[in-house]
Amino acid sequence: MDLKDKIKSLKSKLDALIVAHYYQRDEVIELADFCGDSLELAKKASGAENKLIVFCGVSFMGQSVKILSPNKNVIMPRLACCSMARMIDSSYFDTSIKKLKSLGIKEYNIFPMTYINSNADVKAKVGAMGGVVCTSSNAKKIFDYALNLNKKIFFMPDRCLGVNLAIDSGRRSSILGVSSDDEVKNSDVICYDGFCSVHQLFSVSDIEFYREKYKDIIIVVHPECDPSVVKAADFSGSTSQIISFVSNLDEDVKVAVGTEFNLVNRLTKRNGNRDNIFVLSSSKPECPTMNETSLQDVYDVMEAFDNGMPYNEIELTSNCIEDAKKALNKMLELS
Ligand code: 13P
Ligand code: SF4
Repeated sequence: MDLKDKIKSLKSKLDALIVAHYYQRDEVIELADFCGDSLELAKKASGAENKLIVFCGVSFMGQSVKILSPNKNVIMPRLACCSMARMIDSSYFDTSIKKLKSLGIKEYNIFPMTYINSNADVKAKVGAMGGVVCTSSNAKKIFDYALNLNKKIFFMPDRCLGVNLAIDSGRRSSILGVSSDDEVKNSDVICYDGFCSVHQLFSVSDIEFYREKYKDIIIVVHPECDPSVVKAADFSGSTSQIISFVSNLDEDVKVAVGTEFNLVNRLTKRNGNRDNIFVLSSSKPECPTMNETSLQDVYDVMEAFDNGMPYNEIELTSNCIEDAKKALNKMLELS
C-alpha cells in the first residue's frame, strides 16, 4: 500500500475527518475530506459527526475546533504556529488593556475583538470581557456589530485587518505602541501591533508593476495585506472568497493574487494551467509553518493515535474553553 492508501485505511478505521487549510501543500489538500478558509474549517470540523479530527493547518485553527467541540479529539500532523497569532498572549492582552485604562479609557467602554488568528488564551480573555472573534470572511459583519455598540474597539492581533476595517467604515484608527496617546484616545478602533509576515511581502509597487505591464489586470489580495495595498487592489477577501472570485473571472482575464503561494499556484492549475494568474510578488510568499505538513506527518500522527500513543493533540483547560467559546459562539451567531 502506498502512503495515501495507508492514510485512507486508518481514516476509516478511526472514523476520522481530515480537514486542511488552503495554504497546505497540494498532496495534503488532495487527501483531505474538506478544505476551506478559517471560518469554514471551524464550522465544518466542529459540527462533524466524527469524534476524531485530523487538522492540517496551524495551531489556532485546531484550537478553534476544540473550543467549539471539546469532546472531540483534535490532532495535528504538525503543531505549526501562525507567527501572527504568536504576537499576542494573555499577558500582552492584559498589558494593552492597562495601557488603554491609563489613557483614561474606561474598561466598560472597550470592546475587544480578536481575529481568529490568535491563540485560545487570548480568545478566552476576549470572551471574558464580552468581546467577539472574527475571521477574514465575516470581519465586516462582526465589525459593523461592534461599531453599533458605540464603544472603542480594541482589535487584535492584526493591525492591517483592523485598519482596513476602520477605513472601510470611515472610522478613525490607531495602533497601540505606534500612534501617539492622543491618537489612541481619539480613535474609534485601536489596533494591536501584530501582522502577518507573509502578507507584508506585497507592496503597492508590486501592484504598479503589474498595472503597468498589463493595463487591464485585476488585483486580488487578502485583507491581512497593508492598507495601502488593499486600497490599491480591486478585490480583497478571505482565502475562500479569493478562490471563488478568481474562478468566476472570464478565462482571458489577467489577475495577480496577493496571498500565500500554494493557494495561488493551485488556482492556476485548477483553472486549466492558465498562464494569466500571477503571484503578486517577486519573492515567493510562502507561509513556512503551513507548508511544513507532509503526508508522512498525517500518517504518523494517525498511526500514533491508533496505537494509543497520541501526540500533537490539542488540549485546553476547561476555563479557557468556557471563556473562549463565548467569543467564538458570538461570532457564529452573528455570521
Ligand atoms: P482565511 O480565513 O482567509 O483562510 O485566512 C487565514 C490565514 O491565516 C490567512 O493568512
Ligand atoms: Fe499566520 Fe500569515 Fe501564515 Fe496566515 S499566512 S497562517 S496569518 S503566518
